[in-house]
Parts: sequence; C-alpha cells; structure tokens
Amino acid sequence: MSLKGGYQALACTGLFAALGGFMPAPAVGSTPDPLEPTGQWMEKSFGSAALPPMGWNSWNAFHTQIDEAKLIGSAQAIVDSGLRDLGYRYINIDDGWWQKRRQPDGRMVVRTSIFPSATGAGPEETSLRPLVDRLHSMQLKAGIYSDIGRNACSQGYPSPDSLLPTGTVAEREVGLYDHLAQDLTLYFQEWGFDYIKVDGCGLNAFSADKPAVKAGQFRAFPALVVSDSINQTRVADIRNLYGRLRDELMRVRPMGDFVFSICNWGTANVRAWGRDYGNLWRTSDDIEPRWARMLYNFDSVATRELYSGPGHWNDPDMLYVGQGEFDANHLTEARTHFALWSIVDAPLLIGYDLRQAPKALLEVLGAPEIVAVNQDPAGNQGVLAYTSDDLQIFVKQLAARDEKAVVIFNRGTEQVNAVLTAAHLKFRPGTTIQVRDLWRRRDLPAFTDEVTFALAPRESVTLRVKGQPLLADGMYLSEMPARLYVAADGIDALQADPQIHRPVNMGDGTTRGSGPRPALAGWGGARADSTPYNNELRLRGKAYTSGIGVLANSRLQVRADGQFNQFSAQVGMDDSSLEQRTKVRFEVYGDGRLLARSPALGAMDAPFDLDAKVAGVKTIELVAREMGKGSAPAVVAWGAAALRH
Ligand code: GAL
Repeated sequence: MSLKGGYQALACTGLFAALGGFMPAPAVGSTPDPLEPTGQWMEKSFGSAALPPMGWNSWNAFHTQIDEAKLIGSAQAIVDSGLRDLGYRYINIDDGWWQKRRQPDGRMVVRTSIFPSATGAGPEETSLRPLVDRLHSMQLKAGIYSDIGRNACSQGYPSPDSLLPTGTVAEREVGLYDHLAQDLTLYFQEWGFDYIKVDGCGLNAFSADKPAVKAGQFRAFPALVVSDSINQTRVADIRNLYGRLRDELMRVRPMGDFVFSICNWGTANVRAWGRDYGNLWRTSDDIEPRWARMLYNFDSVATRELYSGPGHWNDPDMLYVGQGEFDANHLTEARTHFALWSIVDAPLLIGYDLRQAPKALLEVLGAPEIVAVNQDPAGNQGVLAYTSDDLQIFVKQLAARDEKAVVIFNRGTEQVNAVLTAAHLKFRPGTTIQVRDLWRRRDLPAFTDEVTFALAPRESVTLRVKGQPLLADGMYLSEMPARLYVAADGIDALQADPQIHRPVNMGDGTTRGSGPRPALAGWGGARADSTPYNNELRLRGKAYTSGIGVLANSRLQVRADGQFNQFSAQVGMDDSSLEQRTKVRFEVYGDGRLLARSPALGAMDAPFDLDAKVAGVKTIELVAREMGKGSAPAVVAWGAAALRH
C-alpha cells in the first residue's frame, strides 16, 4: 500500500494523555555533546544478523490470504530447490495470521481457519508452536509479524479481501502497544519464533480524524508518523517506541538469537538511528511489482552506504522477483532487481509463491555467485562509483582485499556502452584486472585500465573483479563502509531526499493530484566518495575520487580494531559548500585521545594534510567542528581519507 501519507498529526501532549497512555519522549535534560568523542565504538550490537537475512515472507505473494498450506508449500520448495542450503532460512509470516486478542487476559489468538495446526483445546487456546517446530525440523527459521501501535496495517488500509482481526475494539487491538512484554514472551519464548517484523501503521492510520476511528471501530492513536511530512513526524517518540521493543527482545532472548526488522517505511529519519534499534529497517514505502517502483525502493538505500553494516542493514523491502515486471517473462528486470538488492546488502526475502516457480526464476533467486556478493562477510554496502539518472556503477569491497563486486546498471530506456575503469575499482592503472561474470558463472578476458559493456535498457552486469588495490598498504575509508559509524551527521533540519525516484502512484488512480513529492529524510547524510548533496568531493579545485563527504558539526567513528598504523586525509571545506563564510576545524581522535587537528579552514584555504599515528587504536573518531554558526550547511571533505598498515 502506498497511501500512508497525508494525515494530520495531532501533536499535542495533552491530547496524547487524553488518548490514554501514550507517553511522548521524555524531555532530555543534559544531552551529551554529539561532537564529543566517546573513545568507544558506539554502535549497539544485538540480534543475529551478521549477514543480511535471507528467506521468504508471505506478504508479496499472498497478502492476508496466507495459510499454512501455502506457507509450508513455499518452505518445502525452498528446501527441495536447494535455496535453503544457499542461505534462505527465514520463513516469515506477515499480516493476517491473527484472529483476535483474547479478553480479559490479552493473549493473542491465531486464526485457526488458516493455521489449523495452531488449534488448541478451546477456540481461544491457540499456539503457533507446532508450525514453528515444523519449520525448525526442516532446518528453517520462523518469523512473525506485528505492529508497534495498537492496530495493524491491514486494519488501517484494508483491501476488499483482507482477513481482518475480529471482535470488539479491544479484541481487534492486535498490535504490540501496551502488550510488549506479553506478546514478545509469547512469540519468542512460548512459540519459539526467531524473527519479528514490526510494522508502524498503528502510528499513522488511526488518528482521531479517521472515519473508522470516528465510527468507533478503533481507539484513536495520535499520528506520530506523517509519511509525506518529515517535519510533522515525531521522530523521537517513534524511535523510543522501537527502542523499547529492542530492549524487550533482549530480555526475552538474552542470548541474542533474534532478528528485529523495523518497518516504518523510511520515515522518522530512521536512516540515522535504525542501526542502533533494529537489525534491519525499511528505507521506503512498499515495493510493487513494477520497474519504476523498484527504482524508488532501490534509490532509498543506494546512497545510504555509510549507515549499514554487519548486524544492521538498510532494507529496501522484500523481493518481487517472480511477479509483474519481474516475472519469468521479464528475466532481465528480475536479474537486475536481484543483483541490485545483492550489492547493497539488502535482506533477500523472497515474496513469491514458490510452489509454482518456473526453473528460470529459481535460477535467479538461486544464483550462487550473486547471493555470495550479498553474503560477503565484510558486510560493506556497495558504493556508487559512477552515477547518473540513466546508468550507475556500484562497487562493493569484498572481504578479500584485492576483490570487489560490481553491478553496472542501465536504469534507462536506451542501450548504453558503459565503460568500467580501474579508477572506479580503485585498482592500479596499467595492471591486470581479472573479471568474472557472476550470472554466467564464467571468467571474462582480463583487462587493464578499462573495459566496455553494452547494456540493453534495464539490463545490468554483475561482476567479481580481482586486481591490485591503489592503496597497496591500506584502504580508503570509502572502501570500508561497514567499519564506519555516523555518530553525528551535522544535519540541523531534516530534509527530504530529492534523489529518490518518484514513480506514478498506482494506488490511487495514477495521475490524480499533483504527483509524489520527495518525502524520505536523508538529504545531507554522510557519503562515501561523494559530498552529502551528491557532488564530487573537491577542495580548491582538486577533485578526490576517494574520500568521505559530510556536513560540518559531524563525528564519524571508524572501527580500526588495532589493525592500522597511520590515518591520513586531505581535509577542508568542500568547494560545493553552501556555507562559505565560517571555518571548520578537523580533529582525529584515537580511543578518545586527540591525535591530530587542523587549523580552522575556510572556503579559500588549500586542502590540509591531516595525518595521525593510530597504531593499536580501536576506535578512530573524525570530528569536523564549525567555528561559529553559519547560515547554511557547511559541506566538508575528508579527501583521500585512508588507513594504512
Ligand atoms: C505494510 C508493510 C508491508 C506489509 C503490510 C501488511 O505496512 O510495509 O511490508 O507488512 O504492511 O499489511
């Protein structure tokens, strides 16, 4: 559903209180200075998602028309086709499984007409344990679905055929709100689930002005999420609700054997905090089985490379391989969709009825060398080495220092001759580069300096390349996004990201209204090999093909783990900076100690060489501190920032 936006936020504390129980985020007394180095790696570690989760989810295939036979049928197909052994482990039930919340004790009741194995001694004595046990006996894992609010998405945005919870208003409150401990204990301890996806419709579809709420069908809940208005979305409140959930998960599963998927569709600036709250977080509204919509979902992660890493993944939504414009008649599109998800470390969750999958589609989902790109243990999201509206080149540093994965992607409607260069790969010019075509699973002729690929519209090429890194004795920071953590991004006022493709909205009669507008916050975030606003990194006319671009008043952490000896960068205010009058000082810390510092640098200053000895340092912190307060964002560059052994 793509109609979650456009609702009035009822943002007033008194009203929340009147609505019974919603507690807004507490006022913060003394907030720590975000630029102050902590001396410790700040990313929280929890859950079991060292690699992007892989599996199957019922939603894209069946919506609420899920049942046990369909689910087990797809699970069996995953086993029989060999997909399980390739890594597809999670079988996730989405919306539709619930009958009601039993009164007065609040225990959730399963809809046994579709999950007969959940039938217990009485009509309200149900359990999904038998189903979970069955999946576990197939060496699979089991996922369940809920909502962070009182009610779920199918209730807020029903289709004519939706299977909805039944009963009184209280019985139909199937979401986690007010039942966090009770439900998570049931799902994870009693039923034995391994994974939970937590939607957010309870926070945007049940405000007091909604007809169904006015009609008394649902209790009102303030619209904390206003999908098309980042400024009206109550970011801290939403973050806190998901934070409580994470803490509760750690209580019910103290060994950390869970996966927590946040589904708030890229709203509430989740880009910036998802990493500390969930194992994956949706970056956009729902995918649909059409090309233009896939582009929208993909774009919402394509420039977020510094915000994901092992344990914590950007989620552009589940796969649509198998349906619509990604079905067996559109294998070019299906392969491209799959390769793109792989190179940005997206979770690979199949959304297709596998009981009837043609071989050609199983071969897409089961392409072992494409899956291996996604599951590379280093967990570096692919970085844009070339970008335009029509053609993009993503390069992903693999765990082996001299190997990279590459996707060259023709987004447009015309054939393109794409030139892949040694510079895109950060390999040494004049040296031999070995290439393997990962779809065809065969080596291509080696090349030096550059090679050209002719790409049909919507076609992509996925490669593994091996060569001599430009930095023989170290790595550019932009080659190790998984080791970077954006502790402070310098953004003062959230802005919607204008780079994300805006397809015609199919949900509400196509071109009625004036069209979709940029809605997802994230414009101005830290970037690898780019400024935060998608310009080339440049200091006094000198361009840097490697480096980190970020706003001033930022702090980046780098997990060095004592593996490097030397940090170096050329720093300064980027030529593209909107702010030109203030100056910025650059500081490098090692485990909390100041190691090096630049003078205050302004727009007219030459790039400054900033070097620091980092032998034995575990956490490096890079602070860009603006001297005085500018009137526009100051863009800075850590040009050629690198760590050497
Ligand atoms: C949406 C969510 C979908 C699916 C659906 C269920 O909000 O993004 O992935 O879970 O709800 O109703």
